[in-house]
Amino acid sequence: MDETVSGTVDLLNQLCVPVPALVIGELLGVPADRHDALRDAATAMVTFDTTSKESASRLAEAVEWLAGTFTSLVRSKRDEPGDDLISGWVWARADADLLSEDELISLAFLMMLAGLENVVHLCGNIFAALLAADVPDDWMARRGELMEAANPLPFAIRRFAVSDLMIGDQIIPKGDTVLLSVFGADSDPARNGRPSLMFGRGPHYCLGAQVSDLIVDAVVPELFVRYPRVRLAVPESELEYRASWRSHGLEALPVRLRD
Ligand code: HEM
Repeated sequence: MDETVSGTVDLLNQLCVPVPALVIGELLGVPADRHDALRDAATAMVTFDTTSKESASRLAEAVEWLAGTFTSLVRSKRDEPGDDLISGWVWARADADLLSEDELISLAFLMMLAGLENVVHLCGNIFAALLAADVPDDWMARRGELMEAANPLPFAIRRFAVSDLMIGDQIIPKGDTVLLSVFGADSDPARNGRPSLMFGRGPHYCLGAQVSDLIVDAVVPELFVRYPRVRLAVPESELEYRASWRSHGLEALPVRLRD
């Protein structure tokens, strides 16, 4: 990792960003030279500010670029299939008619976005918690609890009410958007041993849950093995979190690797 003159390293951008991008990019077959631009587009989507025209035009540009990029990527896999997931889906579409073209493109896009966003901020939040508490050895003992507390995605994917719904004393009118707070459900004192909803449940259970676990288990303990003296370079209260409607993650994670 590259240290600045003052000896600090931004762990978020130097470790938490590149590892998931490489793993998910390779699984999907998204060339590494597009990762930076994809991440910029993903950031424009998740930091969209409804009160800013500039943010709206950045979002529109990002969505157009992403749609074009994934459409041409899928086309190129059709012409020259590789040993990757997108090529496999192209085959499933052509041979077994299992996916529509739109489904294929949006699945590829959604998985890459999750790789560029979710695991990145999960690792960043876990590191921030361990470094702030100054007890990195806690990781193995408290893995499940720390993972849940570091969950960067408070909400499940949007749902829409198909009929008027009554929940408690609240009416949700037909057509309204519903955001289910999985973080709220996991933090509920009445949870009573129910398994975590961090990765959802049922038919829409997160497709990336296993790979996320693998990345976290590869990245988190390894930092403390390689750099046993690693510590935050600023007080915990000065860590800045990104303004995002969708995810809870850091802007940067400045650390000192050595003394
Ligand atoms: C690391 C943190 C991650 C968390 C906390 C997370 C969490 C979730 C949650 C809560 C859902 C929605 C479940 C629902 O609405 O019912 C979901 C869906 C999904 N996730 Fe993840 N995810 C993570 C990483 C990933 C990664 C790395 C990938 C891809 C490589 C991925 C791919 C997906 C896909 C494709 C869906 C939609 C599944 C469907 O609708 O059938 N996720 N995830």
